[in-house]
Amino acid sequence: MTDNTRSRAWFRVAVVYFVVAVALGIVMGASGDHTLMAVHAHINLLGWVTMALFGLLGLAYPAITEGRAAAWQFWLHNTGAPVMLVALAARLKGVEAAEPIVGIASVVVGISVVLFAWLVFTRMGVSRSAAGPAKLRTS
Ligand code: HEM
Ligand code: HEM
Repeated sequence: MTDNTRSRAWFRVAVVYFVVAVALGIVMGASGDHTLMAVHAHINLLGWVTMALFGLLGLAYPAITEGRAAAWQFWLHNTGAPVMLVALAARLKGVEAAEPIVGIASVVVGISVVLFAWLVFTRMGVSRSAAGPAKLRTS
């Protein structure tokens, strides 16, 4: 397996979500207040699990992580997801004004996911290096 900067960035961001989600889970369990269950679930799944998978797929197929589309995918996800999760927490705590923000941010995450799917379909069979142009993988 090769290593790449984007995958390392995904892993670093993913473990931050993991720590926050588990801390929230422990607080929920200890307090008996499960109001933020959906936030806990999605910090874990949209943050830790999804982002770790983005990183792992990037290690397996580095071409997925390179170029402008991959940079857009990274930043759309890393903007949409935290905004969505903070706004969802506010909404679940009674701040009704946060609802449209949850909606808009979830669409941003949706665009990132579609872009990721596109990267997987178009780049998985291509190997790239900083030194040369894209070429077809033969192994
Ligand atoms: C020490 C670690 C964790 C603690 C203390 C914890 C605690 C909790 C608590 C108290 C709930 C609410 C249950 C309910 O109201 O029915 C919950 C729900 C949930 N947790 Fe965790 N959790 C932990 C780790 C994780 C991890 C690692 C994941 C996923 C990778 C996860 C995913 C979920 C999901 C998806 C739900 C919603 C379940 C449902 O729909 O009924 N949790 N967790
Ligand atoms: C933009 C992305 C996403 C949106 C807008 C979204 C939206 C939702 C909504 C509206 C619910 C119902 C919540 C409720 O009944 O209170 C839900 C539940 C759930 N979603 Fe998502 N979801 C997203 C991404 C994901 C991903 C990536 C995963 C897994 C990898 C996931 C796993 C779950 C699970 C396990 C539940 C049940 C636990 C709960 O009620 O919180 N979701 N999601």
